[in-house]
Amino acid sequence: MKGLAMAINPPIDATQTPAWAALQNHFNQLQAEGINLREWFAADANRTASLSFEAGDLHFDLSKNLIKPETLQLFADLAKDVKLEERIQQQYTGVHINNTEDRAVLHTALRRPASDEGKFIVDGQDTVKDVREVLDRIYAFANKVRSGEWTGVTGKKIDTVVNIGIGGSDLGPVMVYEALKAYNDSGISARYVSNIDPNDMAEKLKGINPETTLFIVVSKTFTTLETLTNARSARTWLLETLKAQGAIDGSDEKNAEAVVKHFIAVSTALDKVAEFGIDPNNAFGFWNWVGGRYSVDSAVGTSIAIVYGPERFEDFLRGFHVIDEYFANTPIEKNVVALMGLMNVWYVNFFGAHSHAVLPYNQYLHRFAAYLQQLTMESNGKSVRWDGTPVTTQTGEIFWGEPGTNGQHAFYQLIHQGTRLIPADFIAFANTPNATKDGDQDVHELFLANYLAQTKALAFGKTAEEVRAEGTDEAIVPARVFTGNRPTTSILGDTLSPFAVGELIALYEHITLVEGTVWGLDSYDQWGVELGKVLAKQIAPAISQDDAALAQQDQSTQALINFYRAHRH
Ligand code: F6P
Repeated sequence: MKGLAMAINPPIDATQTPAWAALQNHFNQLQAEGINLREWFAADANRTASLSFEAGDLHFDLSKNLIKPETLQLFADLAKDVKLEERIQQQYTGVHINNTEDRAVLHTALRRPASDEGKFIVDGQDTVKDVREVLDRIYAFANKVRSGEWTGVTGKKIDTVVNIGIGGSDLGPVMVYEALKAYNDSGISARYVSNIDPNDMAEKLKGINPETTLFIVVSKTFTTLETLTNARSARTWLLETLKAQGAIDGSDEKNAEAVVKHFIAVSTALDKVAEFGIDPNNAFGFWNWVGGRYSVDSAVGTSIAIVYGPERFEDFLRGFHVIDEYFANTPIEKNVVALMGLMNVWYVNFFGAHSHAVLPYNQYLHRFAAYLQQLTMESNGKSVRWDGTPVTTQTGEIFWGEPGTNGQHAFYQLIHQGTRLIPADFIAFANTPNATKDGDQDVHELFLANYLAQTKALAFGKTAEEVRAEGTDEAIVPARVFTGNRPTTSILGDTLSPFAVGELIALYEHITLVEGTVWGLDSYDQWGVELGKVLAKQIAPAISQDDAALAQQDQSTQALINFYRAHRH
């Protein structure tokens, strides 16, 4: 294992490569001649054609970005200089590229077809075979729950699944659950509890019947404070409520049976699961080569398999795999997945962009930005490279967003007319499961008109002359001018299907890898979340009564705790 970790070359400093210098020259030239999307479109009738791509069943239009067709070759040169293809190859074949944790990074193995069994043996493990075995067990269990063969302790069919997890054990599943709601024909709904704030659990338990509820405790490590605390609270609620309802007698035997019937687990630490009282037969494993934020397509997605069924889960996996194959096998200058990652670097390092908006024109994707925040920012929010040396340029982007058109009436003002450059990805689908007419107006088409109008306004703006031509009072002309030249990428799909959701996730996973490679980061560790966890454990006794622990805190923390103690009822 150590040997594989050692096989990794030190990162290449992208800023010292010929390709970086060429991009800098190109950037300087564009600045000198003036970045003007109106002019660029007018001068090149093929601009959109040369900057449009298909990957899987998704269409990508990069033409409203601050690039010229020739920029793509410069991006590809940078990829070559930092050996992106080698890193992709290393990742896909299980080299321990997560070297600070000495782990392979093999989420791509989670979605390989069964025909790949025997081809991806990593550290002695037939990864695809193991993945398919766990999937088969999950599917069998999901089918039992869906058919009613699996019941609660009183013999009633399950109608509610409560997923207890946090970070990657929550954000992926809840995002996908919301994204696919139109496909729910099982009569089973899901809820997701993540926060250790008791308000989260209290609200999620409201109105549900313990007799028909199945809890899934999802934790890669099965040590996470929030998840285990919430799992114990849920177990207490289950047993107390069942007893209060007269469904069980409260004996140890019946309690144990209730836990077995109402709790299952997902973890890489299956030994810890049994200690909780969960039957190991109802525990689904995964492996340390699956990062938490890259795990929704592993057993972590069990809630999705139960609610939407194994066939749709398989479609979901196929969507990932199509993009995985495209990304690994398409030359970089034509590889829109790689190009989007390289273009993000272009905006961060040459244009000084700090953040990146992801704006889905689909209400079902309302948790997509939250999901992406962990994926991208836990991966690339780092200041040292994978060999421990400091980074040589800015890294990371702040990902954020809300579904259109809600965002239009909130923060788009800043994207259109603010002083900051905010590249934005606009995502929409041609079809909706909820076709609606407002008189003669197809409402989905009206929605898509907004999707198109926004990227058009951002790219081409509105000049002072155009504002004046509307008879605007001269004093307010400047306020009504839109400079344009605000970059957007349009992603358009057929339908927000399980397949498309898999494609979108894989797209952003690989974009994250591309950016991390250019910056020389180990995108798969997350040491930055550890310190807070340790301190929370140290501070916990100080809050309630331990004055010695309080005295050890800094003055600000002491003052805050004293306020808390004085105000707690
Ligand atoms: O926030 C840190 C982190 O380790 C994430 O990477 C992970 O997704 C989350 O905590 C939850 O961890 P676990 O699945 O082990 O409970």
